[in-house]
Amino acid sequence: MSPQAASLSNQANCLVLSCSPRAGGNSDTAARLFSEGCAQGLRGGREEKDGEGQEKSPPVFFLRDFAVEPCIACDTCGKIALLLKNANHQLTLREFAGNDLERTGARNAFAHPAFHCPLTQSDASALLLRAFVEASSICLVSPVYFYHLPAMCKALLDRMQTFWRLKTLFPGSGKRLFALQGKTCRVILVAGQKQGRKLFAGALLSLKYSLSGIDARLPEPLLLRALDAPDDLSRSPELMELIRAYGREAGAELRALQEN
Ligand SMILES: Cc1cc2nc3c(=O)[nH]c(=O)nc-3n(C[C@H](O)[C@H](O)[C@H](O)COP(=O)(O)O)c2cc1C
Repeated sequence: MSPQAASLSNQANCLVLSCSPRAGGNSDTAARLFSEGCAQGLRGGREEKDGEGQEKSPPVFFLRDFAVEPCIACDTCGKIALLLKNANHQLTLREFAGNDLERTGARNAFAHPAFHCPLTQSDASALLLRAFVEASSICLVSPVYFYHLPAMCKALLDRMQTFWRLKTLFPGSGKRLFALQGKTCRVILVAGQKQGRKLFAGALLSLKYSLSGIDARLPEPLLLRALDAPDDLSRSPELMELIRAYGREAGAELRALQEN
């Protein structure tokens, strides 16, 4: 894991994740441009007035730096969701987060379903899952691989099952236990082909349903075609500006959140 990956929390509260296995390609470039735009949106022109600097530029993380095991359908998350639902009194957040469920009667349950998933003991997913829950704004950037997402990105989305099971078996738990609210997830997909009516369809459906477990709203995605060589995006000033503008939209939204 890179040193950068050690902490995923940042003051801008925006998680920017590049999901390409290829380092230095179009997804990485797009993620960096989005982050730049997001910083501009966050500053909202304030740097001209009071000299505020670059400190709010969200860091870009690379999924390939994290070992994320694929879901094995053990349904531990489903069992935990039912234990939580059937706990004999209303759990306080402290009990829930403080690994104190035994006292509540939910024996053998652990603290946080996402981090209690057995796979989080042996892989690096806990940091990422936590970041997904905590971020107000997320930007996922990924290439299209055979009309879908690269395997490592799909593996991460499958691990959202932990939130999905909680949400469906214990309605309302997301808001109560994770304080989930008004999260947005922007999506940038890059593909080599120029054509293909359903080129992005599979990826977008997976993203929509997997991220619904954390109640993420997906604004209009940015779908980019004809980007194949690793430097194709960096040779297109128009597309680069389009991505910055998409980032500015997210930054302006975050600024409004921070000001309220
Ligand atoms: C295994 C693999 C499968 C791919 N499948 C598709 C595909 O189905 N459709 C497409 O348009 N491009 C496909 N591509 C091309 C990539 O989407 C394209 O090169 C993209 O720019 C890679 O993004 P990156 O530079 O961020 O890695 C594929 C590439 C690889 C390596």
